[in-house]
Formats: sequence, structure tokens, C-alpha cells
Amino acid sequence: MRVLLIGSGGREHALAYAIAQSPDLTRLVVSPGNAGIAQIATCVSLDLADHSAVAGFCRKQNIDLVVVGPEGPLVAGIADDLQAEGIAVFGPSRAAARLEGSKDFTKILCAEAGIPTAASQTFDSVKPALTYVHDHPLPVVIKADGLAAGKGVTIAEDRASAQSAIEAIFDGAFGEDGARVVIEDFLEGEEASFFALTDGTNILPLATAQDHKRVFDGDKGPNTGGMGAYSPAPVMTPALIDETMARIIEPTVRMMAARGTPFCGVLYAGLMITAEGPKLIEYNVRFGDPECQALMVRLDCDLLTLLNDCVEGTLGTARVSWRPEPALCVVMAAQGYPGAYKTGEPIGNIDGARTTGVEIFHAGTAQKDGHIVSNGGRVLGITASAATIEDARERAYEAIDLIDWPGGFFRTDIGWRAMESN
Ligand code: AMP
Ligand code: GLY
Repeated sequence: MRVLLIGSGGREHALAYAIAQSPDLTRLVVSPGNAGIAQIATCVSLDLADHSAVAGFCRKQNIDLVVVGPEGPLVAGIADDLQAEGIAVFGPSRAAARLEGSKDFTKILCAEAGIPTAASQTFDSVKPALTYVHDHPLPVVIKADGLAAGKGVTIAEDRASAQSAIEAIFDGAFGEDGARVVIEDFLEGEEASFFALTDGTNILPLATAQDHKRVFDGDKGPNTGGMGAYSPAPVMTPALIDETMARIIEPTVRMMAARGTPFCGVLYAGLMITAEGPKLIEYNVRFGDPECQALMVRLDCDLLTLLNDCVEGTLGTARVSWRPEPALCVVMAAQGYPGAYKTGEPIGNIDGARTTGVEIFHAGTAQKDGHIVSNGGRVLGITASAATIEDARERAYEAIDLIDWPGGFFRTDIGWRAMESN
């Protein structure tokens, strides 16, 4: 099979790493890719916003399957536009990607399907929203409706911050899509992520993970795309996984199909494990980054076959297998991230740090004058697996010590929750 993978992050390097192991693969092209991906695939620069240009490339290169990594192109309808030209795509249609693209859409679906989630109200204008939070119990959660690159959520501990979060959304802080606000109750509990593949009808549960969204140790500082992750998440017992499938994932897939907008792709449920059981915080319509890095080193079967089963509607007979060892990914980011940071800094000894049980996935990297240089906020994902999560963590941090990049930083406590639960 000839595959085009879209994206440039650590998630895509991990997907490329797994796809590259498939005996069915004959050619892997990634657009735009990064310096790490370039070591295992051909990177090409395409205008991903121009779907007919992407389709033209696929036809010329005889691409059999397009795998879309990030949510942006899916919400923009790349799957619909390529499929309309007869090209197979792993990833949901524009209509199905609304599960991530609109929080209000997902809230309505949850209400219709009886899926447990925080109680909420949606507002299209500032005044009623302000009135609603005036006597709402605190903390209260304020969310921009549309895609906001992880920055659209405020947990307001007091009324003044609730008010300014609402005003910022209606002042256009998140673009036109953000000019709508979802205000919801604060959920208490432990967070976990759950991943499942679906072809629109059949569902294959994949695995659980937990990430670390805050930038500093002890879960302090601003939110990021994720500073580390591990899989599995010990909080997700087999009983909780069954409950998540029965009460959240299955009704979602059924409802999307019944509406005539079946969801084909990977469904990533962000969950809060509350005293009343799992509740849906949000859906993403893609693999998590850096959760995907931990998942892909655990995967013990052919990813390309599974992705193809989703596209062909044959997931009902598919099986997934996992290595028994847990995996953990520590992100190395550029000083200053998630604020302003430098790029173009040389990073040395990445290959020397790739020791037993360790994979180093590139995120924001580029090649310059024969060197690997930093080229983004999150730069590397040092991913280790071992017999225990403690050993995996030790391996990951030992590998980090070998990497020569003074301008980088990382959290030193990735996996703390999993270790506490042991
Ligand atoms: P989201 O962008 O929806 O993933 O939200 C970002 C983070 O905000 C989540 O990972 C949670 O930590 C937190 N969060 C979102 N909604 C709630 C809620 N209703 N209750 C508590 N925490 C929440
Ligand atoms: N790590 C969080 C995400 O991928 O959305």
C-alpha cells in the first residue's frame, strides 16, 4: 500500500513509525513531516488547505490511503473532499469531526443520547452568558465553542475571571468560531483518555492513557498541548472501560450513524472519572499528542491493517494486541513554551539517546546544514517502555540526560499519578 500521512508533530512521527512496520506498506509519504519523520518516510510539502491539490498529488503518486493526523484538516473537510475524488481516507468527515470542532454540537449529542457529561448551557451573546454565571456555583468552566488549539477553556474560580473569560470569547479571542460560549459545571475527579477506532458501525476499543497538560512539575503553570503521557492509565479499570464503552462511546457512534453522519476514524474521549462514574469532558477526532507516542510503542499488531479496516468497514472482525509493558513519553520543549520560544537551536546526540526500550519521536524539528535543529514549541517526545511504569520513566529520563540541547526543558514528574497508584 502507498500511504500519505498528513501532519508534522510527535503524533505523526509515532504513526509513521507504526505504519512503517507494516508488511503491506510499499511507500510512506508524509506532508509536511519533520526531521525525524524524514528518516523513515519521504516528506513532501503540500498546501494542505488546497484539497484538490492534495487529491491531485494522491492520484499522481497512486496513494491508496490518506491518514490524517491533526484535527484542523478534518474539521475543514479534507476527508470529504478527497473521498469525493475516490481517494480512501482514515479520518472523519467534516460533519463527524464536529465532535471536536464544536463543543456545543457534542453537548447536544450527549443530551440526545443520554451520555454522562457536565451539565451546560450554550450562549451566542455576552449578556445572557454573564447573567448565567452571576449566581452559578464556583468553579465554573467557560469554553469557546470552536477549535481553540487547547486554549479555549477557563476554569474560573471566581466571578471576575468567569466574566473576563466570557468577554474575551465574545471579543473574538478565538476567531469567529469562538463567538459562542459553552458554560458548564465543574467536574471533580481524575482525568483519563480513552481511544477507540470505529468504521462508523463497528467499534474496536484501543487503550487508555493519561497526559500532563500543564507546563511545569506538580501540574502547575499554563496549559500546553501536553508535556508527557503514559499508557495504560491505571485509573481505568476493566469495569470503567466497559462502562465508558457502553455509556459513552457506543451511544456516540450509534447516534452519529443514525443522523446520517457516521464517524469513521479514531475517537479520543477525554474523561473525568467522577464519584458517579466516567463523564465525557470532550471528544477529539484524532490521536492525542503525546498520548499517541505512548500508544504506538505499546501496539503489537499492524496499525495499517486496523486503519484500513476502518476505511473498508471491516473493523468488526479486527483484533488489536498490545505489549504487556506500559509506556511513557516525556516531551522536551523549547524554553518559553507555551509562550514565545527560540527555534533553530542545534540538538545533539538524539541517536545516541535511543537506547534499549526507548524511541525518540520528533515533533518540532528540522534539518539545517546537516544538523537537527529545534523548530517548534514541543520538540521531542522521549518514549520508553519497560516492565513497570517506574522503569519506563527511569529509561526515559536517562535518555533525556544523553540529549545535548541546553535550550530545552521538560517536566521531571511525568507519570507521578500512575506511580502513586501502585
Ligand atoms: P478541553 O480543552 O475541553 O480538554 O479542556 C481542557 C482541560 O480543562 C481538561 O483537560 C480538563 O482538565 C479541564 N476541564 C474541562 N472541562 C472541565 C469540567 N467540566 N470540569 C473540570 N475540568 C474540566
Ligand atoms: N494531549 C492532548 C491532546 O492531544 O489533545
